[in-house]
Amino acid sequence: MIRPGGEADRGAVNWPLANEPFLVYEREGRILGHVVFHDVFDNEYELLYIEVDAAARRQGIARALISALPAGRIFLEVRESNTAARELYKRAGFVETGRRKLYYRDPPEDGIVMELKKW
Ligand SMILES: CC(C)(COP(=O)(O)OP(=O)(O)OC[C@H]1O[C@@H](n2cnc3c(N)ncnc32)[C@H](O)[C@@H]1OP(=O)(O)O)[C@@H](O)C(=O)NCCC(=O)NCCS
Repeated sequence: MIRPGGEADRGAVNWPLANEPFLVYEREGRILGHVVFHDVFDNEYELLYIEVDAAARRQGIARALISALPAGRIFLEVRESNTAARELYKRAGFVETGRRKLYYRDPPEDGIVMELKKW
């Protein structure tokens, strides 16, 4: 089941949440995945972070979480070396639209900018 994350779910989120909305994927009372996003403005969102428990990967949970995001234009940046995430985003319909030179630190790495038009 995918549902909006609430106050009680914040501990399951591996992201320094301020007040961003997030969705959780729950199975038999356990949260197995989450996606955090930012409502930029009308129908435009930034996907800030998505993670699925290591033991529950390759079951379509991340794709399901992306499908459950609101409709609109969704942007994200991903580390160039994060093959799993880049494949996931491609499979979910995101296209690469740019590159941010040395966007990440520790270790320094380019960020790939991707966009999905989700209607
Ligand atoms: C990236 C991540 C969220 C994917 O979660 P997931 O639930 O395993 O992904 P899904 O099962 O929905 O995968 C959908 C598709 O993405 C691609 N994919 C997912 N993981 C992959 C991997 N390790 N290698 C290659 N392709 C992969 C595949 O095309 C997959 O479809 P398939 O299983 O039918 O081949 C997960 O690996 C994760 O939590 N990684 C650590 C956190 C992270 O890097 N988050 C991204 C930050 S930008």
